[in-house]
Amino acid sequence: MDYGLKSRIASILKPNNGRGVMLAVDHGYFLGPTEKLEVPKRTISPIVRYCDSLMVTRGVVRSSVDPNFPVPIVLRVSGGASIIGEDLSNEEITTSIKDAIRINATAVTMSIFVGAKYEHKSLVGLGHLVNEAEEYGLPVLAVTAVGKELAKRDARYLSLSCRIAAEFGAHMVKTYYCDDFQKVVNSCPVPIIVAGGPKLPERDALALTYNSIKAGAAGVDMGRNIWQSQHPVAMIRAVRAIVHSNYNLDQAYKLFQQLAKGQPIPQNRGNFNPNQNQNRPQQNRPNPQGNRQNQNRNQQRRPQQNRPNNQNRPNQKPGQPNQSKPNQKPNQGKPQNQNRPQNKPQQKPNQTKPAQQTKPAQQPKPAQQPKPAQQPKPAQQPKPAAQPATPAPAAPKPQ
Ligand code: 5RP
Repeated sequence: MDYGLKSRIASILKPNNGRGVMLAVDHGYFLGPTEKLEVPKRTISPIVRYCDSLMVTRGVVRSSVDPNFPVPIVLRVSGGASIIGEDLSNEEITTSIKDAIRINATAVTMSIFVGAKYEHKSLVGLGHLVNEAEEYGLPVLAVTAVGKELAKRDARYLSLSCRIAAEFGAHMVKTYYCDDFQKVVNSCPVPIIVAGGPKLPERDALALTYNSIKAGAAGVDMGRNIWQSQHPVAMIRAVRAIVHSNYNLDQAYKLFQQLAKGQPIPQNRGNFNPNQNQNRPQQNRPNPQGNRQNQNRNQQRRPQQNRPNNQNRPNQKPGQPNQSKPNQKPNQGKPQNQNRPQNKPQQKPNQTKPAQQTKPAQQPKPAQQPKPAQQPKPAQQPKPAAQPATPAPAAPKPQ
């Protein structure tokens, strides 16, 4: 794979764990000013720092995303149908690759509508988009859209759609979570990213995130379940904690509740924003070594996994705990081993026995060391909704 293509994918799915949090705000391209996205800038500004990449149209990126704090843009380049029109599957490419490059997009994205009236048009469109985007090293994210037919979202249909997208050359596929989601993941040879879908109660949206990651998804591309929440910052940070810090459902929900209530969170613990917005003032810096214990199968098939983990590594301040590995001894300021290879044996997220967490401090104290915790136990049966209560690890204070 070409350097450009690889490095762009690596800024969407982090090389240390093969995962990413994509924030979806492209809904206006067929829904218009949908609820809580009436003024895109107002929706995007408070939460953009917590995502790894932003899925957006060119109209919104130009009008509502600050170019002084760049975030990897996954540019929606398809459209042509609206929610009140005849058929949502009647889309084609509407934004050129030239414009995607002008915008400095990291990837381009379009929907395919398998089994729908305009299936042929969208699939051939995907083939053409891959041909053109690859000439410039731009990865393509294919979205397996279902239009208004939400009931289509089962493992059989989604496996079919995802596999077709991958066969056409999509580098990543976005789809929906469903029962037997592992089947969808297993039959798709490229990383799968999960859409949130219509708004759910926060705990359910976090369960969807947790179950998706557990089944091998490379991340989420979530929109409404983040910015339609009453607490979008708390929500994206809790989602992020699952994707990048291996929080289980209880831990993530507790984190959400704490953040939503504005409770103090000890500094430098919990979820981070791996390399996004590194130019942003006062941005908390991540620990890019986190999560290595819990690599998923997507990562195993990605070529980046065997590279030394020395890419884009921001510095960790001496005295800071190892931020995204709650089960590890805190980093006592030792320099990190930057050349350690990534391909440790896979471990599933700890599903039934959450690892002991460090005690949440009452008051955030800079450079306070958390108690070392026990090693995680291998996962057993998936029971995400019935996790024992676990002290929520804390996250950095929002800037
Ligand atoms: C619309 C999209 C959306 O980006 C996608 O559905 C993700 O957003 P949400 O989490 O709100 O479903 O691709 O076609």
